[in-house]
Amino acid sequence: MSITQHLPASQAAPAAAPLLEVSGLAKHFPLRQGIVFQRQIGAVHAVDGIDFTVGAGRSLGLVGESGCGKSTTGRLVTRLLEPTAGTVVFDGEDITHTPEARMKEARRNLQMIFQDPYSSLNPRHTVGTIVETPMKLNGINPPQGHKRRAQELLETVGLNPEHYNRYPNEFSGGQRQRIGIARALALRPKLIVADEPVSALDVSIQAQIVNLLQDLQREFGIAFVFIAHDLAVVRHFCERVAVMYLGKIVEVADRQALYTRPRHPYTHALLSAVPEADPDSTRRRERIRLAGDVPSPVDPPSGCRFRTRCWKAQDRCAAEEPPLVRLKGNGEGHLTACHFPEEPTIEAREEDIVLDPAVTAREETSAGTA
Ligand SMILES: Nc1ncnc2c1ncn2[C@@H]1O[C@H](COP(=O)(O)OP(=O)(O)OP(=O)(O)O)[C@@H](O)[C@H]1O
Ligand code: SF4
Ligand SMILES: [Mg+2]
Repeated sequence: MSITQHLPASQAAPAAAPLLEVSGLAKHFPLRQGIVFQRQIGAVHAVDGIDFTVGAGRSLGLVGESGCGKSTTGRLVTRLLEPTAGTVVFDGEDITHTPEARMKEARRNLQMIFQDPYSSLNPRHTVGTIVETPMKLNGINPPQGHKRRAQELLETVGLNPEHYNRYPNEFSGGQRQRIGIARALALRPKLIVADEPVSALDVSIQAQIVNLLQDLQREFGIAFVFIAHDLAVVRHFCERVAVMYLGKIVEVADRQALYTRPRHPYTHALLSAVPEADPDSTRRRERIRLAGDVPSPVDPPSGCRFRTRCWKAQDRCAAEEPPLVRLKGNGEGHLTACHFPEEPTIEAREEDIVLDPAVTAREETSAGTA
């Protein structure tokens, strides 16, 4: 394997001028001890130097296991959190440390949809108030008036405009998420960060909400950062996908390349957990089950952070952090951070790799009793 070209992620993004450009972004949450002096004893390296871009009207999926830093990334981009290091440039403006008082303009164009449609809506406000408030706070006075505009937005997201006076608890989870989406749309944003917008919903409702977001993206040309645990959820939504592990982006590529030619062992393992899109496919999907938990972000492993769970790890992996680069065989814009990358295929191996001994034991037991 040879590394042919070192490309910062920011140069490998879609051709359109980036609407969002994130460079070296990091967030370390201080860990404190003591009641009075609150001495800092360490830091949670939630996000630890990531680069990515999103073009106007484009979509980037951000995928990885729980705790890898996805939500923190979303909150840094929308400036709900202050970064420890790095820069966030949005719509040509460096907003990394813009004081809250001067964030108004950027906030109009930079909205967030949250995972939990139960806690993200104020239960004491009517749906109308929830959708109208961002317009009023931002001094937006639509010609048809706030109420009519809010009702139009409810219609746009598939809700009955006559439910304007109802309260969130009168709606189902899927409907509440639609209210959250209407609220995010109220300011006609250029970018929406959707943090696991369907994970709290019934599987039957998830596809409806993803389809709604996709329709809105096409109709209004809104760019999306779509955060998900699961590669299956972002598969149909996102043109580009970045895979995160323990505060780092380990692989980023266009959808097709990532799903059919993953090079990072972690991406490969995540893909092996995604159900086959075509159940009649004769191709045997390989199986990789990852053993153990993600290590603590307080004291991440040296070198490659994935090495404690990687079946290919060697001494070099502990000594040297693999840079996120374009590897030989990877196309333009496909970056991988691994010293010993996978062959670019998801075809079956000779033998399954099952890394979790508990899974193997369970399967052997059930095969024996079958
Ligand atoms: N305010 C905070 N203070 C201290 N640590 C935090 C804070 N917010 C997040 N963390 C830690 O930072 C790491 C990344 O958290 P984050 O919520 O970004 O992960 P995530 O990928 O969104 O996980 P999930 O899939 O569970 O939502 C975790 O270890 C988390 O415990
Ligand atoms: S650098 Fe080493 S430990 Fe990390 S993913 Fe590649 S082979 Fe595995
Ligand atoms: Mg999260």
